[in-house]
Amino acid sequence: MADLQNDRFLKALLREPVDRTPVWMMRQAGRYLPEYRATRAQAGSFMDLCRNKELACEVTLQPLERYPLDAAILFSDILTIPDAMGLGLRFAQGEGPVFDKPLRTQADVDKLYVPDMGSDLGYVMDAVSTIRTALNGKVPLIGFSGSPWTLATYMVEGGSSKTFAIIKAMMFDEPKMLHQILDVLADSVIAYLNAQIQAGAQAVQIFDTWGGVLTPRDYNEFSLRYMAKIVDGLIKEYDGRKVPCILFTKGGGQWLEAMADTGADALGLDWTMNIDEARARVGNRVALQGNMDPAVLYASPERIRQEVGSILAAYGKGTGHIFNLGHGIHPEIKPEHAEAFIKAVVELSPQYHS
Ligand code: CP3
Repeated sequence: MADLQNDRFLKALLREPVDRTPVWMMRQAGRYLPEYRATRAQAGSFMDLCRNKELACEVTLQPLERYPLDAAILFSDILTIPDAMGLGLRFAQGEGPVFDKPLRTQADVDKLYVPDMGSDLGYVMDAVSTIRTALNGKVPLIGFSGSPWTLATYMVEGGSSKTFAIIKAMMFDEPKMLHQILDVLADSVIAYLNAQIQAGAQAVQIFDTWGGVLTPRDYNEFSLRYMAKIVDGLIKEYDGRKVPCILFTKGGGQWLEAMADTGADALGLDWTMNIDEARARVGNRVALQGNMDPAVLYASPERIRQEVGSILAAYGKGTGHIFNLGHGIHPEIKPEHAEAFIKAVVELSPQYHS
């Protein structure tokens, strides 16, 4: 395997010195890029795109051909695990993911099992190794998974939700049943991320998109505890290099200290907190990734550059910051605005590193 030509992302995750702040964008391969929409049309459906290693590789590399990004992220989805558990995933036009067989009864839950990383999810590992080979050491490859709580919201609700009515009723009335779901998911995520690492992922991120809808007590019991179990079960070093792990709880700003206690290397920040305060709170324990409001990309390139400048200044001097948006890039963003964002990080950040 070729040596890594650009390792500033991996170094910053481990709080080692870098020449400038590394940058990548959540959802960097996606619908805001016309070339993504073309490949997606060629694949047929979104899941067909995920299952085709050549096309999944092609869309992973698309943003890297346009922009000087410091990492690639596997093109796939967090819902591959529940799909592999036989819940009948489909992406309905305009309404997002739908599960035909949501988890509602104890009998549904008793049927759950840890999917086989070869026969059920081998297509994801094939995509990882195809992408890693195609990158040829240009930048590191990020693998990812959803958190058990976030995956469970889709599996129990049967799709996206605004109120989380069904899963929260289960959490209050049938906590044991929910814990049973979360346990199988945590074991599945450990096996899934470790298989991605063995296939070539050089860092991993756990997306806890919906942890922030919980009370502090419920966050600890139903989300953080399972992420801590995952961090504990991950391969820490592979192929002679540390494999850093990033925890991202959207809306989790008030829990950074507890998140750092899991042993994760880095925490993802959304845009609802100041990065200088976050840094003061976590000190040298973890790196921080984020935290620009993705809606800034609707503004002019000049205004985008100004916002990048103020986040860099707020973080201040030294390593341990990976620039990113506070959540995924929206599909309506103009590619030139994403470019202005990334260029601003490249041009304005060296002064914060010596
Ligand atoms: O970041 C990347 O470029 C890698 C690819 C990636 C996708 N989904 C591709 C995708 C990643 C990391 C994800 C994670 C994901 N998927 C999350 C967690 C991240 C977050 O945004 O908080 C969640 C909650 C999902 C579940 C999911 N997948 C939903 C709710 C949807 C539909 C909503 C939408 O945006 O349309 C998807 C589909 C999806 N996953 C798309 C992409 C590019 C759009 C599908 C399409 O092309 O039609």
